[in-house]
Amino acid sequence: MDKIFRIAPSILSADFAQLGNELRDVIQAGADWIHFDVMDNHYVPNLSFGPMVCQALRKHAVRADGTRVPIDVHLMVQPVDALAQAFAQAGADLISFHPDASAHVDRTLQLIKAAGCQAGLVFNPAEPIDVLEWVIDKVDLVLVMSVNPGFGGQSFIPGALRKVEKLRRLIDTHRQQTGRDIRLEVDGGIKTDNIRSVADAGADTFVAGSAIFGQPDYRAVIDAMRAELAA
Ligand code: DX5
Ligand code: ZN
Repeated sequence: MDKIFRIAPSILSADFAQLGNELRDVIQAGADWIHFDVMDNHYVPNLSFGPMVCQALRKHAVRADGTRVPIDVHLMVQPVDALAQAFAQAGADLISFHPDASAHVDRTLQLIKAAGCQAGLVFNPAEPIDVLEWVIDKVDLVLVMSVNPGFGGQSFIPGALRKVEKLRRLIDTHRQQTGRDIRLEVDGGIKTDNIRSVADAGADTFVAGSAIFGQPDYRAVIDAMRAELAA
């Protein structure tokens, strides 16, 4: 089966003074999803944006032909539940959270899905993935952190590749048993020159912040990434 790769630019590295334009530019440049990094200065040592900003951007997350571009909300917050619900209301399509930030992971997954969104679990570089075994039937997306969360522009931690390989095996087994696919996304330090190795480890969805927004021509970067993935 041919994999469908997705590129999810993180607007954490966009120009905050003109987020609507940045969103439209990066969508025109070929973004598949918009990655929305929510930081609370508690779970991570940084503060970004909340549900009101998501709501304001929702109308900009459309392609020229009118199709909706999924907003992929990555919650780096503790506690999780109230904000997850607020983001569902604000137009998020996928909502991922760190299991160590939720007192009741199964309950949090249930409420995200009940709110009509796809649900994801995020694993930090030093965090085990054991919890996935017990909730995999409720998970639509697994997000592997290849940096410690909190900041854009950090270097890729190579140990993440081993975790991606392990998750790929679990997800493939789950698909064989149930017919249900789970997205495997990687976040942090992804550039044109390492995206291929992340795909080879088994990832199908790639977050890139500084690699895209740090360059003047977003399309050139996204095209170069796709060329690496196709190679
Ligand atoms: C880190 C965020 C990432 C980050 C990615 O806490 O979750 O999404 O913005 O940025 P780059 O691609 O610059 O590492
Ligand atoms: Zn992120």
